[in-house]
Amino acid sequence: MEAIDGPTLEMLDIKDRPQEQQIDFITRLRHGLRAIRFAGIEQTDWHLNQILCPPDPRDPSLAPDIVFIDFAFALQNLGEEEGCPLHLDPRNLENALYDWGIDEDIMKSCWFEATEEEY
Ligand SMILES: Nc1ncnc2c1ncn2[C@@H]1O[C@H](COP(=O)(O)OP(=O)(O)OP(=O)(O)O)[C@@H](O)[C@H]1O
Ligand SMILES: [Mg+2]
Repeated sequence: MEAIDGPTLEMLDIKDRPQEQQIDFITRLRHGLRAIRFAGIEQTDWHLNQILCPPDPRDPSLAPDIVFIDFAFALQNLGEEEGCPLHLDPRNLENALYDWGIDEDIMKSCWFEATEEEY
């Protein structure tokens, strides 16, 4: 396993960063979730410490990178008949971000509704 040198999302100061950085970060987080679900993977254990945020290697003052970790309890949709279908609404991470205190206007501006391929 690759060791990721960066804080967890919970430890991150993203809420104190400029609004454009927050929007950039939350948008990438949303697309990351979309990609995970499109791949048929359901992270059943979302919380802020399952997301690591190493600094952008080009410039640490920019919004950090995003690495999802700990899929120990994840479900995988391996086929239409025998697989484990996605069943949880993809709002768990969204709710965790709201609970953490990400600005509502920022969330509304970039946390898009679940797309068809996420189900
Ligand atoms: N690849 C990694 N690189 C750097 N740090 C890591 C890595 N994997 C895990 N950690 C650190 O260890 C913590 C716990 O990791 P992980 O979520 O895999 O274990 P866990 O036992 O499921 O913990 P939890 O119950 O909090 O989810 C992470 O929040 C992170 O701080
Ligand atoms: Mg964990």
